[in-house]
Amino acid sequence: MTIYLNGQYMPLAEAKVPVLDRGFIFGDGVYEVIPVYSRRAFRLGEHLQRLQHSLGGIRLANPYSVAEWTAILTGLIARNEPEDQYIYLHITRGAARRDHAFPNPPVPPTVFVMSNPLLTPAPELLSLGVSAVTAQDNRWLRCDIKAISLLPNVLLRQMAVDAGCAETVLIRDNDFLTEGAASNIFAVKNGILLAPPKDNLMLPGITYDVILEIAAANDISHEVRKITVAEVFDADELLLTSSTREVMAITHLDGKPVGTARPGPMFKKIYSL
Ligand code: PDD
Repeated sequence: MTIYLNGQYMPLAEAKVPVLDRGFIFGDGVYEVIPVYSRRAFRLGEHLQRLQHSLGGIRLANPYSVAEWTAILTGLIARNEPEDQYIYLHITRGAARRDHAFPNPPVPPTVFVMSNPLLTPAPELLSLGVSAVTAQDNRWLRCDIKAISLLPNVLLRQMAVDAGCAETVLIRDNDFLTEGAASNIFAVKNGILLAPPKDNLMLPGITYDVILEIAAANDISHEVRKITVAEVFDADELLLTSSTREVMAITHLDGKPVGTARPGPMFKKIYSL
């Protein structure tokens, strides 16, 4: 596997970062995950825009222009074998003596990009759906920043794995749905697709936007609004979306069936579109 680190392409085994890197010490950085189909990055402009938003959120200058990022990613895609890949792109505030405050004067950021094979959901998962658990969303109030400090998400996702499930659906303040540990979540009730509003409590998913665009373009009734915990448990269908999982149906939640416990008509329609 060839990766990109601080201006150079190299084999993964040769890539090294200093132990004082603020990504390692503080989780002080942001990232993106970009799917690549047939060697073409999907919605690259949107991913780079979200990267800019995340960098702005942590007050870190973008080291590259859109044209430079495009060249770096194109070079990386060409150097890796699979036709379908997913790009993991990671920027930290660089290596400096340990101090919570930003290095002054600033140090160069660390830029790391790798490509992995894109393994989209297996046919059985699409036809049967997946199970999920719920948990209280105990993350910070800037979930719109795609930060590399993912400890809450790691612990929340592990709750799903420990329960033999695919995802943890997050509920804020015992009251409303935010998203999944590493995905966005939609509900369906009476034929209407319901999406939580993009705010500081969830990551503005690129796939989330694709789903809403598909809904708007195909006369699928949809509403973007707060979804209560009661509505989550009473939903006819629940959908999970992300760049690596595309769209999947959640058919069991906390061990109880969602609707008919089979992927429903909304999932099938959205997936095929
Ligand atoms: N995660 N919400 C969270 C917390 C996420 O981590 C992700 C994606 C999403 C979906 O966003 P998008 O559709 O842009 O992938 C929502 C990626 C895949 C990851 O961390 O690996």
